[in-house]
Amino acid sequence: MSTEVLHHENRLFSPDPSFVAQANVSGMEAYHALCAEARQDPDAFWGRLAKENLYWQRPFTKVLDESNPPFFKWFEDGLTNASYNCLERQIQKGNAQKTAILFEADDGSVTSITYQALYARVCRFANGLKALGVGKGDRVVIYIPMSIEGVVAMQACARIGATHSVVFGGFSAKSLQERIVDVGATALITADEQRRGGKSLPLKTIVDEALALGGCEALKTVVIYQRTGGNIPFVAGRDHWMHAVEEGQPETCEPEWVSAEHPLFVLYTSGSTGKPKGVQHSTGGYLLWASLTMTWVFDIKPADVFWCTADIGWVTGHSYIAYGPLAVGATQVVFEGVPTYPNAGRFWDMIARHGVTVFYTAPTAIRSLIKASDADPAAHPRNFNLSTLRLLGSVGEPINPEAWMWYYKNVGHERCPIVDTFWQTETGGHMITPLPGATPLVPGSCTLPLPGIEAAIVDETGHDMPNGQGGILVVKRPWPAMIRTIWGDPERFQKSYYPAELQGYYLAGDGAIRDEKSGYFTITGRIDDVLNVSGHRMGTMEIESALVANPLVAEAAVVGRPDDMTGEAIVAYVVLKQARPEGDEAKKIATELRNWVGKEIGPIAKPKEIRFGDNLPKTRSGKIMRRLLRVIAKGDEVTQDISTLENPAILSQLKETL
Ligand code: PRX
Repeated sequence: MSTEVLHHENRLFSPDPSFVAQANVSGMEAYHALCAEARQDPDAFWGRLAKENLYWQRPFTKVLDESNPPFFKWFEDGLTNASYNCLERQIQKGNAQKTAILFEADDGSVTSITYQALYARVCRFANGLKALGVGKGDRVVIYIPMSIEGVVAMQACARIGATHSVVFGGFSAKSLQERIVDVGATALITADEQRRGGKSLPLKTIVDEALALGGCEALKTVVIYQRTGGNIPFVAGRDHWMHAVEEGQPETCEPEWVSAEHPLFVLYTSGSTGKPKGVQHSTGGYLLWASLTMTWVFDIKPADVFWCTADIGWVTGHSYIAYGPLAVGATQVVFEGVPTYPNAGRFWDMIARHGVTVFYTAPTAIRSLIKASDADPAAHPRNFNLSTLRLLGSVGEPINPEAWMWYYKNVGHERCPIVDTFWQTETGGHMITPLPGATPLVPGSCTLPLPGIEAAIVDETGHDMPNGQGGILVVKRPWPAMIRTIWGDPERFQKSYYPAELQGYYLAGDGAIRDEKSGYFTITGRIDDVLNVSGHRMGTMEIESALVANPLVAEAAVVGRPDDMTGEAIVAYVVLKQARPEGDEAKKIATELRNWVGKEIGPIAKPKEIRFGDNLPKTRSGKIMRRLLRVIAKGDEVTQDISTLENPAILSQLKETL
């Protein structure tokens, strides 16, 4: 018997004693001991872990520099290299012939690469990049499908001290161009095309479109991984095939030893206002946290086969594909395709074929596979041998207890703990999560902060809220993997994450509540204008700006509405320059506008629903009343006070769906 229901109200699942016995953090006492060590002397705690978990070419003499908050510096005078830690260090530990990556392509073909071979490829490509003039401090945009080459590209940048900025392959030319310009990229690595769900989709063509939009004059070099062999435009002098860049290059490449504070990468994410923010991460603190969380949260052991289904275009794919698994010498699966191709049993089939032991995915994927296996019983996990699994993880959005239970029963066979990991692009790695061999689990709760993470719930002035009462999630002390700044905009960094009224605490942007008895955290969702659709983070303002850029649109307001499948769905209220459309015309324009947003930002930002009005509900001072729009988006009756509303009649019009 592996589970024990201790609490009838909020079903508590205790870890299996045999799991506890072998866990890297074994039992709650071990967890509490680490927390106590961190609290007692944070510098000694982080210093010890940094020495034990990373290779330092030159040891650091100071752990944390707090002299200029919130611009904290960690291990600053220490010299290291992320790629060296992920490759040479693993080879020295005896992992040379161990499989680093098991890559499964969309069509099911599998390529595996050992640590030794990955090291050679990264070095050859790193040397090739250097030969093209790319070096320390340069920014390189990576716009590439899930592939060994994607990991090679990121690792090669890290090796030579270039800062990479990966842009998810689903973003449009315009989004790509904005990121190239903002980060000041001088080189870009892409592929001819990508394969998803049996189809070839363009990448290089989109790169050319992005560059043609202007402002990218600093970008002199484009390197193309030949994935499909499809026909693509090629600009002589600027464009190079990746295989040609690697050809003839030596299989060793001395890493560029950088300060622990050297920016390893910039990753763009959405905020509540303005354009996406370039979240800048460090080398030392970031890599420390990626390795530690692999050890603590994913309980990684030498024989594990780890699989994180995220894309390297998101932070999850950075920390738990490109860096974390390699930094601890794990074998991992990297998957090119989609969970529903050739059928919705793909994930389970892959777990069985590759003997996956630790599986990490998003609630949206779980929910869609529940639905798919209802429709197609052959795709149900019961048809696959999932006996190698020992640990499951969830990330990106709140997991509803029903999806948690299904995952627990049907995938984990009530044997595997589920780590519901709360974290963000800005945090670099897990923050609040169960430890699988320690923390009793409650479906829907991310439970307790990791050792050294002083998470708390406070009111608007930074004062602690009692357990049982919701509030604002903050982190009271700096931690090594935290965001360092917003690329090129330190002021925005300070304003967004360290607002003056919060007493120097990091503002996560989420609401949360702690259980009265257990102190467990449950995330209640964003408190700003950021939406979470299928685990993808999007700013309402970004979508509004995209809509008003359309010549037909006079005004737009975007809100989120709860959605059973995608967590949240985007609802856009639009006022056209022409009269309010009706019937087929309204449907036609709505389709046009959805496609427009797809082109402006990317398909993930397309509103699920568009409603047209003659106007938007505004206060007398002209402020759009979004809370009312949220209520009517859900189909609820407006019960709030609308006396400050200038045009109350508009509400009934905006309730109408197309
Ligand atoms: O709202 C929280 C939600 O996702 C946001 C962070 O999104 P992003 O930076 O794209 O990173 C996603 C992958 C780490 C958070 O502010 N979120 C993430 N994980 C959870 C979550 N909400 C509830 N539970 C989680 N486990």
